[in-house]
Amino acid sequence: MENAVKRIGVLTSGGDAPGMNAAIRAVVRACLYRGIECVGIRRGYNGLINGDILRMDASNISHIINRGGTILYTARSEEFRTPAGQERAAGTCKLIGLDGIVAIGGDGTFRGAEALSKHGISVVGVPATIDNDIVCTDYTIGFDTASNTAVDAIDRLRDTMQSHERCSVVEVMGRNAGHLALYVGLAVGATAVLMPEVPVHFDQDVIEKIRRARLSGKTHYMIVVAEGAGSAMKIGEQIKETLGLDPRVTILGHIQRGGTPSARDRVMATRMGYSAVEVLASGRTNRVICAKHGQMVDVDIEEGLSQKKGLNPQQLAALQAMTGL
Ligand code: F6P
Repeated sequence: MENAVKRIGVLTSGGDAPGMNAAIRAVVRACLYRGIECVGIRRGYNGLINGDILRMDASNISHIINRGGTILYTARSEEFRTPAGQERAAGTCKLIGLDGIVAIGGDGTFRGAEALSKHGISVVGVPATIDNDIVCTDYTIGFDTASNTAVDAIDRLRDTMQSHERCSVVEVMGRNAGHLALYVGLAVGATAVLMPEVPVHFDQDVIEKIRRARLSGKTHYMIVVAEGAGSAMKIGEQIKETLGLDPRVTILGHIQRGGTPSARDRVMATRMGYSAVEVLASGRTNRVICAKHGQMVDVDIEEGLSQKKGLNPQQLAALQAMTGL
């Protein structure tokens, strides 16, 4: 097979996501299939700066498809944000003869890849973040697993909240994005869902929904809050002050980032990792692999960074109907 690249690096960067290992595995196996050498870069862009590398072959990617986390570790690199850091990273690529990089991560990862491309390195991004907030793709690796982890936890909470006829306030991840909160809120039949993209009118969006639920006969309530929409602790206190309830607050935190990836995440990661190698092998650069209507396409990396991804309007409409009572 003709390949436009001879030796590519693969790295994971930013918040880890279940399925990253499946993506790494797919990149390595696609390289082996095409006769391209593959080098693992540990600890994200810091690894590129420091030359923290290892040769990748079938032996170090066996039995990782079902493991959460990333065997290449990940990090957020302050040094790589500097021109000097980017120079050093490009120097490592030149030293070891890397003519392509597959960068697996979120928008910050793609910004780093774009910076690297200015030094003549071909780069392709693979979208992996539990936030699902990359505008150019319908889906990012890790979102399905994180959603199922949160739904399982909230189903367990509902058992005890129902028994004690309590109000539960649950904070899910999503520093700046409410995609996870919206999806999980629909899946658990939340009384109310708070997302950073939707301005919160506390009385209308929380108090009134609890009151209507009580009037419809419910005696327990489930409030889902994206961490970027406010503090679950404060929301619990406000509910207590206003309604006299005594809410129990649960912050799911980083358990949403772990666990064995779901079948969907494994397959999406495999398809995206494979597509990334195909794009580099064909000689294209500065691309991001995107899932679009069930197909894998690649778009210019700028498009991947162009704007914030809005919430799904149909999901929002359904949520309004389900919680409008
Ligand atoms: O970007 C994914 C994410 O999980 C966000 O939802 C969350 O706010 C952030 O990472 C947490 O970052 P860290 O792992 O550095 O605390």
